[in-house]
Amino acid sequence: MISVRVALATPYDVVVGAGAREALSSFVPAAAKRAAVVTQEAVPVDVDPGVEHRRFVIGPGESAKSLATVEQLCREFARWGLTRSDVVVGVGGGVVCDTAGFAAAVYHRGVPVIHVATTLLAQVDAAIGGKTGVNLPEGKNLVGAFWQPAAVLCDTDTLATLPGREYRSGLGELAKYHFLVDQTLDALDLEGRIARAVAIKAAVVAADERETAGLRATLNYGHTLAHALETAGRYDLRHGEAVAIGLVFAAELAAALGRIDDSRVAYHRSVVAGYDLPVALPNAAEDAELLALMARDKKAVDGLTFVLDGPSGVELVAGVDPAVAEATLARLRD
Ligand code: GLY
Repeated sequence: MISVRVALATPYDVVVGAGAREALSSFVPAAAKRAAVVTQEAVPVDVDPGVEHRRFVIGPGESAKSLATVEQLCREFARWGLTRSDVVVGVGGGVVCDTAGFAAAVYHRGVPVIHVATTLLAQVDAAIGGKTGVNLPEGKNLVGAFWQPAAVLCDTDTLATLPGREYRSGLGELAKYHFLVDQTLDALDLEGRIARAVAIKAAVVAADERETAGLRATLNYGHTLAHALETAGRYDLRHGEAVAIGLVFAAELAAALGRIDDSRVAYHRSVVAGYDLPVALPNAAEDAELLALMARDKKAVDGLTFVLDGPSGVELVAGVDPAVAEATLARLRD
């Protein structure tokens, strides 16, 4: 078992390893008399918070990440008598982390939350760092709050329960970490890679909790094109698959801008392909639509803005020439 500290003003631990969820009761705050366990029907993972607890089941898929679900949860918490000194425990993937975390952030103006992350994607990303929130019909994650968890348990035993594509989607987020600090992930086994990814994310979050210093935005490496592909929405891509294509695009774009050389692009392609993830754009993807969507990205404050690799590592780059971005899209076609 590996424990990684997220060194914020109120620090917390992320525990990674087989059976990590069994440590849950040791992280439940001493004052808590009750734990509201928020999960989904399809999550076949039981937890024991060591205090009186009740399951609150939210719906499947991204559509459950809504204000309606948060209202429902908060009303159920109130009817059960959950207090501010109790605890919410989210058991599941990104949808559960984001929704349970946001309900915990706003119920009674904030109750502690612990995430038991059961998907690879949640373990290396969504459960860590306190970004909580829900979608609106107008877009993803448009309402939310920073609400740091009291602890995160990444139980690698639960990964065996994942459907194949859900697991693959997590690999896309894991691939991203190969490029963020150095190439130390290459030599590690899966558990080591998860722990290293957690440590990289923990350090970034500790240095730039609210994404005000530009550093936390680097966690969105590969995500500008990924979000455009997901928003266009016709390509049957899971989030991590879209990120995988986005990573290759970001590398090709950085090379076109003279920021990295061909060997670094080849490294990106080999890492992504090594996870058996896609490296090419879906055939039906249209350049004009993708460029328009990328221009609307939340990071885009000064023209097309990307997180790009370069001589000083991965950083935010604004004002990218749309013609260069369009030519780069062409390089990602089969
Ligand atoms: N998923 C990106 C972040 O937590 O900042």
